[in-house]
Amino acid sequence: MRDQFNREIEYARISVTDRCNLRCRYCMPASGVVKLPHDEILRIEEIIRVADMLARLGTRKVRLTGGEPLLRKNLPTLIRELKSLRGIEQVTLTTNGVLLERLAEDLITSGLDGINVSLDTLDAREFEKITRRGIFAEVHRGIQFLFDVGFRNVKLNCVPLRGVNEDNVIALAALAKNHDVKVRFIELMPFGCASQSGLIGMTSAEIISKLENHFGKLIPDTSSKFLQGPAKYFSIKNFVGQVGFIDALAHKFCGSCNRIRLTAEGFLKSCLCYDTGADVKKLLRSGASDEEILAVMRETIYRKPFEHSFGVAAGDARQMYQVGG
Ligand code: 5AD
Ligand code: SF4
Repeated sequence: MRDQFNREIEYARISVTDRCNLRCRYCMPASGVVKLPHDEILRIEEIIRVADMLARLGTRKVRLTGGEPLLRKNLPTLIRELKSLRGIEQVTLTTNGVLLERLAEDLITSGLDGINVSLDTLDAREFEKITRRGIFAEVHRGIQFLFDVGFRNVKLNCVPLRGVNEDNVIALAALAKNHDVKVRFIELMPFGCASQSGLIGMTSAEIISKLENHFGKLIPDTSSKFLQGPAKYFSIKNFVGQVGFIDALAHKFCGSCNRIRLTAEGFLKSCLCYDTGADVKKLLRSGASDEEILAVMRETIYRKPFEHSFGVAAGDARQMYQVGG
């Protein structure tokens, strides 16, 4: 369906847990994370019911996020059921990769269409500095597994941070030389922990110039792909894969936003930046009919805000791990 600004909303990001096995400095505090009580989190059947209603309202693609989604039990079942919903054409996942080696095979068998792995560096020490956990090797093996089985549609997401992983962007981009992978660089969005961490994000322009100095000209990929999203992709001579950039701050892409979000606790959130939306869990658990819930969801989608105000005004107090990016 279209929202009040005539944007076609067809992409749902569904967070399946607020828990995480890493503690990335720009996302979570080192300690004192308050976890949602188990029964506050939507059950698998509830997620499927909401996803089915989203599909009826025009959602064609679902991305599972967290926290760390692989911490959620029965994920392959969820993927299989989502894939069988009428109208859902793609189900993808964003993970930190820690549990990938263990779970990737089942996820792929259940029909997953794409996997994004958050990977800020290939340097084990930098990895620990950013994530506060010394388990780079697990993540690395997980990604290697995806390469080994030839899984299509792998993206690696790096948030470049000044003075932290800024030099490793070359090694990360180099993964796209021999592998059919998209290595993407995401500008740090300054909210929640990110703004309190003292970390400074780097702009896409800076990263592009670093990469061009090293690899030569980046060639813009102008072909537009199905439900591609806000990333801009580039080819590099002699590279099998591509590099991409998401610069949410320098270039607002709110005008072409096609997203709606469902938090792990069942809040239908109409924009990453604000707390606007609807408590769908409350409706689900109070015995509301599909029609009643659909009416609320339709209204929430219709009223999506015009644009984010990151860097200007205070928005939602929720942190990234509570929303799923
Ligand atoms: N700005 C940009 N990206 C972020 N992520 C988490 N917090 C932020 C932030 N403040 C990224 C993670 C992961 C994805 C889910 O979101 O690195 O790639
Ligand atoms: Fe976990 Fe992802 Fe947040 Fe890192 S960015 S703490 S991996 S949810």
